[in-house]
Amino acid sequence: MAFPPAFLDELIARNPIEDVVGQYVQLKRSGANYFGLCPFHSEKTGSFSVAPNKQIYYCFGCHKGGGVINFIMDIENLSYPDAVRFLAKRAGLEVPEDDRYQSRYREQERLWKLCKDAARFFHQQLKSDAGKPGRAYLAGRGMDWQTVTKFGIGFAVDDWHTLENAMRKQGYTREELIAADLVGEREKDGRRYSYDRFTNRVMFPLIDVRGNVVGFAGRTLDANYQGRKYLNSKDTLIFNKRNFVFGMNLAKKSKQGRIILCEGPMDAIACHQFGFDCAVASQGTSLTQEQINIIGKYTDQVVMTFDSDFAGQNATQRAITMFEKAGISVRILRFEGAKDADEFLHKYGADRFSVLLEGSADQADYRLQSLKSQYDLSKDDQKVEFLKKAAVLISGFPNAIEREIYGAKAAEAAGITPDAMKLEISRAYKNRRRREQKKEEEKNLSPVTALQPAARGLRYDNIRSARAEEVVLRQVLRDASQFELLKDLPPEAFSAPVLGKAYAALRERYRAGHDVSLAVLQDFTPEELAHLTGVARANDEPVSEQALRDCAAAILEEHQKSQQGQGEDALRATLERMKNKKGYGG
Ligand code: CTP
Ligand code: MN
Repeated sequence: MAFPPAFLDELIARNPIEDVVGQYVQLKRSGANYFGLCPFHSEKTGSFSVAPNKQIYYCFGCHKGGGVINFIMDIENLSYPDAVRFLAKRAGLEVPEDDRYQSRYREQERLWKLCKDAARFFHQQLKSDAGKPGRAYLAGRGMDWQTVTKFGIGFAVDDWHTLENAMRKQGYTREELIAADLVGEREKDGRRYSYDRFTNRVMFPLIDVRGNVVGFAGRTLDANYQGRKYLNSKDTLIFNKRNFVFGMNLAKKSKQGRIILCEGPMDAIACHQFGFDCAVASQGTSLTQEQINIIGKYTDQVVMTFDSDFAGQNATQRAITMFEKAGISVRILRFEGAKDADEFLHKYGADRFSVLLEGSADQADYRLQSLKSQYDLSKDDQKVEFLKKAAVLISGFPNAIEREIYGAKAAEAAGITPDAMKLEISRAYKNRRRREQKKEEEKNLSPVTALQPAARGLRYDNIRSARAEEVVLRQVLRDASQFELLKDLPPEAFSAPVLGKAYAALRERYRAGHDVSLAVLQDFTPEELAHLTGVARANDEPVSEQALRDCAAAILEEHQKSQQGQGEDALRATLERMKNKKGYGG
């Protein structure tokens, strides 16, 4: 049987590929990826790599590759279902092979639908007469209507039953509304009362990276309100706040090359309105490891804009350490004359925000400080370790003067001479250059730029089309919502069967609201998966929507040509046959 997609998503999330592979192969981190000796062929230099953010592995030597399930199939010599059972056991998950678990996933799908319908309802309310106070509030905070629609913002009226009534009219049960934390229940005098959880609030739908509405944040309109300023959905079957980053569904499409991490949704939304479409929010100060992992899937460069009060500073320090451990570089943005990003942008505008964003003033200090805090410098061995790490860190600063200044600072902190430090930094600098060159070479050698798949059975017949097909696949793997642009591109138009098959499978997952990634594909041979992995990891640049449309057009055009070609061939064959017949006859 096929496993439910939501179960596979969870299975993969709970079996990080770097951990699973790490149990068989000694891996060394380099930047965002890990490298080691390939377990599938014998070698002395490591050509085997694992990309945690894409959840795939790949060997440059033998071209094996795929997701974590594929890895277990290969290394443990298991069938697909057994590899799934193996990983489920490893992660303490039960395998959904009976009705009870199937129904859990159906329930999940029902809640996604309910939350989407509730978001639609709140948005309609905002547009209607009843939404006037909400509209006035948002306008008062300088939010334009385009932004309101972009984020699907809505309004919950000041009444305890409006949402429940509306949703029940659409066929949802009270139990479902409670399960989604949209309705609460209370007992009084032996009677049970239900009430809408969100009232008199501006409603921000919480949308996950796959585009599902999974919950809500509601902000009160009332400046003197005694209760909570922000009310967030509690954890439900479909929502886990530790695992959620507000705005990631939009920011992941950004071409700005970094992520701006804010504290609250209002800040992230203001950033978007002012053109910084890479902003997200963690909703509160304590960033979780799960949130860092989500962000790390899309960027290795984060700019944090947390509050500069004491609690904010502490949280920031903690977050920096966590980001650095994940191989993500962080910078801190401090606002002068404003409390947060939202206030700053409305007060001083986008240009001044840009200036702050581009400046690197605090970066070096912060990073050096955070490194220092991880070591006890009164101990010799830790001091050596700190100096090594500091040299690596400083060698990455692009500016020679910066390297000089911070080298001296690190030397002073550890009580050695600046010259000794300088030597260490220049050694680290050379190593870094060597690594970068090697990476560059690997990139040039990668099988996709060589245009033909390694496995013979997968050879491309039509290079022009296949190239475009590869771009399309890469793009939807990066951002599944791009399937919306590809409505007119059917899998049948693909010239390369394996690419078409992958496209069809991914599109189906997208339509069903599930994670779109190679790691979850079923029914592919190891060669096919290896090839797809190669396609996915080539050239990381996202392409523009126009370029994507051009690719789709090219595929369709080549497809049409091939159909005509077939027609012509058939015609020629018929003619040929007729000629032959004549020959025989004559
Ligand atoms: N927060 C929360 N519950 C509260 C207060 C805050 O969940 N009672 C979270 C919200 O996500 C909020 C973030 O912490 O956005 C930061 O709090 P704060 O700085 O007080 O709010 P702002 O983001 O500035 O919100 P606003 O501008 O709407 O006042
Ligand atoms: Mn604010």
